[in-house]
Amino acid sequence: MQLGKYPRAKLAQLPTPLEFMPRLTKALGGPKLYVKRDDCTGLATGGNKTRKLEFLLGEALAQGADTLITLGAVQSNHVRQTAAAAAKYGLKCEIVLEKRLSQTTEAYERNGNILLDKMLGANLRYVPGGTAMMPAAEAVADEIRAKGGRPYVIPGGGSNPVGALGYIDSAQEILRQSGEMGFAVDTVVVATGSTGTQAGLVVGFEAAQSGVDVLGVSVRQPGPVQEAAVFKLVEPTAAFVGLKHPIARERVMADGGYVGEGYGIPTPGMIEALDMAAKLEGLLLDPVYSGKAMAGLIDLARKGRWRADQNVVFIHTGGQAALFAYESVLGGPR
Ligand SMILES: Cc1ncc(COP(=O)(O)O)c(C=O)c1O
Repeated sequence: MQLGKYPRAKLAQLPTPLEFMPRLTKALGGPKLYVKRDDCTGLATGGNKTRKLEFLLGEALAQGADTLITLGAVQSNHVRQTAAAAAKYGLKCEIVLEKRLSQTTEAYERNGNILLDKMLGANLRYVPGGTAMMPAAEAVADEIRAKGGRPYVIPGGGSNPVGALGYIDSAQEILRQSGEMGFAVDTVVVATGSTGTQAGLVVGFEAAQSGVDVLGVSVRQPGPVQEAAVFKLVEPTAAFVGLKHPIARERVMADGGYVGEGYGIPTPGMIEALDMAAKLEGLLLDPVYSGKAMAGLIDLARKGRWRADQNVVFIHTGGQAALFAYESVLGGPR
């Protein structure tokens, strides 16, 4: 599948590395674990959103936009990446931030991503938890239009068919790299939230008829609810790229067993995953997304989900800026 016909802005350092994780593999007794370093995409501390934003910003520029508008939680990595993309291309950036967590610390409110959003020049507007976020962003767009501006609204997490193109591209990259390294991928494990990353991967691997399973580890809602949400984006994304054969609903797999009490709320498994990745592989995960996804991978490996000779690729989706917002949980003696 060729993605060359879609407008695209250069933002990411690609390809990102695909690396074997020997010490984590040994500690768990298999499967063979690899990490796809999408934390190294390079834009303002990197992460998965850079790939999506290449296509979203590409479309925005093609439409002549002068302002990017997007939304997210206070420690949103997507917001930080959007602010950086706007800065790099000289666009204004308007952000609607949801106060999604009821209990937070000063570091959560002021450090990590939110600090970087301010440094990157975004204009931040706060709304209470539970606010209908897309209408709030559309209201900002109306305001910008009324002043003669040309806004482009990016949905939460950049998750629509245009953003998902970034992860179709990533699936193709993983197939190419694993082929060059001489192994066949059995399963890809990835954190799933606003769904675009997993949806793009599913479409990319299915389009290539690769047989690769994509297991999403939900960071926000129960597995079946998340699967339905991902599939809801898989279908229009497949249609958008003109995929000829249908993708079966069963090809969308999400595990909701590692959310804990809720989005952004730490779990013991997440803390153990951060510790193991850091101390065994020198790899920094994040507390909200990749940490919970790795907690799922570790637990499922321990429960024998994969044979020792199978190959599992963990997608490191970035998000480490949020570590500094979680000092109260991760710092101190442990
Ligand atoms: C670091 C990180 N990992 C994973 C995800 C989940 O990706 P998606 O929202 O496309 O499901 C996000 C989304 O915000 C993220 O910031």
